[in-house]
Amino acid sequence: MPEQALIQDLQAHLGQEVQLRGWLYGRRSGGKIAFLLVRDGTGLCQCVVETAQADLFAVASGLGQESSLVLTGTARPDGRAPGGVELAVTGLRVLQPAADYPISRKAHGTDFLMEHRHLWLRSPRQAAILRVRHTLIRAARAYFDSNGFTLIDTPILSPGAAEGAGTLFPVDYFGDTVFLAQTGQLYLEAAAMALGRVYCFGPTFRAEKSKTRRHLAEFWMIEPEIAFAELPELMTWAEGLVCAMIQAALAERRDELALLGRDIAALEKIAPPFPRLTYSQAVDLLRDPELHRKLEQELEADRARLHASIAELAALEEQGARARQGWQQDKLVQQAADLRERIHDLEAQVAQRPVHIEHARNFAWGGDFGGDEETILSRQFDRPVLISEYPRRIKAFYMKPSPVNPEVVLNLDMLAPEGYGEIIGGSQREDDLSALQKRMADEGMNPAPYEWYLDLRRYGSVPHGGFGLGLERTVAWICGLKHIRETIPFPRLMGRIYP
Ligand code: 4AD
Ligand code: MG
Repeated sequence: MPEQALIQDLQAHLGQEVQLRGWLYGRRSGGKIAFLLVRDGTGLCQCVVETAQADLFAVASGLGQESSLVLTGTARPDGRAPGGVELAVTGLRVLQPAADYPISRKAHGTDFLMEHRHLWLRSPRQAAILRVRHTLIRAARAYFDSNGFTLIDTPILSPGAAEGAGTLFPVDYFGDTVFLAQTGQLYLEAAAMALGRVYCFGPTFRAEKSKTRRHLAEFWMIEPEIAFAELPELMTWAEGLVCAMIQAALAERRDELALLGRDIAALEKIAPPFPRLTYSQAVDLLRDPELHRKLEQELEADRARLHASIAELAALEEQGARARQGWQQDKLVQQAADLRERIHDLEAQVAQRPVHIEHARNFAWGGDFGGDEETILSRQFDRPVLISEYPRRIKAFYMKPSPVNPEVVLNLDMLAPEGYGEIIGGSQREDDLSALQKRMADEGMNPAPYEWYLDLRRYGSVPHGGFGLGLERTVAWICGLKHIRETIPFPRLMGRIYP
């Protein structure tokens, strides 16, 4: 029996006979040879079947994409094969022949792909994103585990709101209405008073009626909560967490990031300290005529790029009409599809930028930053930026007002660079019983479901705080994705719950 091998380990089996188990990703014939491109979840391997092996060749030549296979053969070096190794096939068993696999290797529309998400996951791009996600989760946990934090699993069914009543998902709980958790924070505060440094990592839910590239209805959040920590310390933890996650992605997932076309140099620049601004400074920046001039220049550059891309596409189409050979055609079709996508993006940017500039110019102190403002602000820095001290009125009831200006709170938001927007939100918490009770009354909140939370301010209250990092937004940034929907295996979006 030949030894079982994974494609990622084939280099260690050169010259040996091995068995591979996987799925057919692609197939092509070159005269007297059939090439089967096989994937096994760890990589892609070119498997070669020669006509001389008449039975094998007949089976191999009829296989449809995604047929499940067990192959035996000899691993041998080949510079042109993916991974530098190919398999000279000596045996082939078909576990299940597949026909008419719906996702071909050509371009498909997003709706179609989302409808087939259960199959789309098999594409190398999607698999690469899921591996980066896995590495980021592990790095975040390792960061907290190695800094004396205890993992606390907070409940998913909760009796009240924590992040505003407008985004609650109600659930029938034995006849009562309860809600899916928007955050683990309030429970984590109780645990921090017991254990000092704690964190939770779990799914959170927001019934946000917005269809943006940054919003999911169900997303995963990593939240630390730290007894005795005040705002500057919280910023240092947030910075440390993000750097640890980036370092892990760079150390373990370079191949995946390259496959995704990520600008890796931009990630390598991320190092502490991150720039820090107050909300008021950020508002001044948005209203600065210097910034508007810079944005106008970027708009001009986008227009020029758009025209160049349109000309390039026309040239490619002409070349495509003249191309004879099939493979050359395929390559041109792919290039043209990429260019069309770029043109589409540039057109959208050219249309939106004037609106963004107007928003920035007219931004008034007191308003919350929307996606446009976040995009502009985060584009001004080559590393994440920490923005603190937002107006109290636009932030959650539990945030502690600043002792120097009670109109703002001791909060922190972290915006990722390259226009990715908010990846972290957090704050120092109100630790004074009467101040918290007053704020809850001002907000019209019924204190009954929060009596336990108020107890934390009755028995040994201390300064404390924490933050939440949105995993999917972080994955989108680190992978360089345009939309959050590809960052989670099965996205839950407004208007999508299948599959
Ligand atoms: O800023 P948020 O709402 O903060 C909290 O929930 C705090 N209770 C966290 C804490 O202090 N322990 O959410 C935190 C982060 C955001 O910065 C964003 O990255 C992500 O969660 N997030 C979302 N991600 C995807 N889709 C949504 N609808 C999101 N809403 C928030
Ligand atoms: Mg927030």
